[in-house]
Amino acid sequence: MSSPAPIHPVNPVPPRHIGIIMDGNGRWAAAKGLPRLEGHRRGAERLIEIIDACIDAGVNTLTVFAFSAENWKRPLEEVSGLFKLGEWILRAHLARLEKRNVRLHVIGDVTALPEFVRSPLEDVIKSSRGNTAFNLVVALNYGARQEIVAAARSLAADVAAGKLQPNEVDWSAVESRLQTAGMPDPDLIIRTSGEFRLSNFLLLQSAYAEIVFASVFWPDFDKAQLQLALAEYAKRERRFGQTREQLQPSDQR
Ligand code: FPP
Repeated sequence: MSSPAPIHPVNPVPPRHIGIIMDGNGRWAAAKGLPRLEGHRRGAERLIEIIDACIDAGVNTLTVFAFSAENWKRPLEEVSGLFKLGEWILRAHLARLEKRNVRLHVIGDVTALPEFVRSPLEDVIKSSRGNTAFNLVVALNYGARQEIVAAARSLAADVAAGKLQPNEVDWSAVESRLQTAGMPDPDLIIRTSGEFRLSNFLLLQSAYAEIVFASVFWPDFDKAQLQLALAEYAKRERRFGQTREQLQPSDQR
């Protein structure tokens, strides 16, 4: 009997940029009878493991949704616990991130963050500026609609000041005013916990992203889960609006 034909991935190149909506920390904790913050703590540890796994997989940029502009509606205890956790995780793993040549970026309105988070974040953003192996982008107090409104205001101000003509407002003028200016668009968005939504995360940048929904809660999203998501991505043919016949090999990335 002949062996089955090997399955060739359609898209053999790893995603250059992955965005992750790390969802389900609270439900993970509740299912184990633990406080919600314990779910966030385990989620933060998972994030460190997934950063390593992304670097090893040849990914260049990872954007994680750590705190949405809407998360302020949560109980104060959870909000302040999340910020303390963010500060702790940064401090605890700084040497490791440095060793792996990781550059830290933040998107979102950081001016509203407590000083004890903002200050160490700004220090690491500065000190990691020369790191080139990997970009870790943390979305903190981020919302895509808020980002789009800010870009629209900046365009309107430039038009009002005569620096820009209305007919010069094109995609590149919009893109250069987004907080992700200069970064490649995400190729793959992963959302954990079995929810099928984008929840105001990188809405414009994800126009052509492949989306993978994982059923596990974020604290259970380990390296093997990432490999599954990457295998799913490898099966996707990226067409960017073109016909299959028009595709160039460079479209698969
Ligand atoms: C969603 O789970 C997760 C968050 C709102 C926070 C994500 C944060 C981390 C993984 C820790 C890293 C933290 C920082 C600040 C860098 P959920 O609470 O919405 O879960 P649920 O839907 O099950 O309630």
